[in-house]
Amino acid sequence: MNKKAILLAGGAGTRLYPLTKIVCKQLLPVYDKPMICYPLATLMLGGLREVLIISTPKDLPMLEDYLGDGSQLGIRIAYAEQPKPEGIAQAFLIGADFLAGAGASLILGDNIFYGKLDFYRAALAVEQGACVFGYQVRDPERYGVVEFNAEGRAISLEEKPKNPKSHHAVPGLYVYDERVVEFCRALRPSARGELEITDLNMMYLERGELSVKLLSRGMAWLDTGTQTSLLEASNYIATIEHRQGMKIACLEEVAFRVGSIDQAQLEAILGRLPKGEYREYLRVVAEEGARTVAPTA
Ligand code: DAU
Repeated sequence: MNKKAILLAGGAGTRLYPLTKIVCKQLLPVYDKPMICYPLATLMLGGLREVLIISTPKDLPMLEDYLGDGSQLGIRIAYAEQPKPEGIAQAFLIGADFLAGAGASLILGDNIFYGKLDFYRAALAVEQGACVFGYQVRDPERYGVVEFNAEGRAISLEEKPKNPKSHHAVPGLYVYDERVVEFCRALRPSARGELEITDLNMMYLERGELSVKLLSRGMAWLDTGTQTSLLEASNYIATIEHRQGMKIACLEEVAFRVGSIDQAQLEAILGRLPKGEYREYLRVVAEEGARTVAPTA
């Protein structure tokens, strides 16, 4: 798999005002860590190591200050500005040089996935075409919606339809082959002036090259679009973390577990972290790692 990742973390965040007057939406806390950790962890757990973070000129410096060049996590993070929120699919035009002909996976910086990510790794392994997912929700009219025929084949995609044809929303996690930039160049802005991700997906669907996989009900795909859903997402993460004594989307732990940093690098990170619950958690991860990881020499 030679795909690269784009994490789109721009937008005005108007629905979360006044919180977003101070800090961008993707840096707001979801329980015990900034929101962006969750989608970044998803990319890392998928096996991706090169990530382009796109955000507004105002917010990009703060994101860069937090995540740096990614070397502390054993990955590479680059940054690019989206001057205006002119659509999710614009991410591929902004990221064209970064992708340099590679296939791409895009994740929206406010999308949280929790559960077994096999479906994502399988999609990333496919060489040709595009893959998106379907997830049952109560309120599909707020999302891109996919309709299936009796054989389970996707037959239509609509962006925020007034009368949804199904209860299956398309989450903000997408996988494309290397033609994605070329396809985006052919897109025209929608009535609301945006390059729509749904229009890009339609292009693949019309060619018979879009695979739409339904996520099981055992997966959690959480919304963070409103004050209430943000609180619910925080409560969900807190509930699981308290129950299991394990953190969700703790980036240093993820890096260690996927093998992009080793024991020595994790211990070096510990030395730089402020005293507190987060460092204590990682100290236990490092100690357990020392017991379970076989020595290399
Ligand atoms: O969350 C999944 C949904 O995301 C999909 O089901 C929809 O098909 C897709 O259009 C999108 O819907 P949203 O209503 O969530 O889109 P929104 O405009 O709120 O943008 C989603 C995130 O992407 C948001 O955090 C801001 C960021 N964004 C959005 C646009 C349009 C950008 O960074 N730049 C942009 O130009």
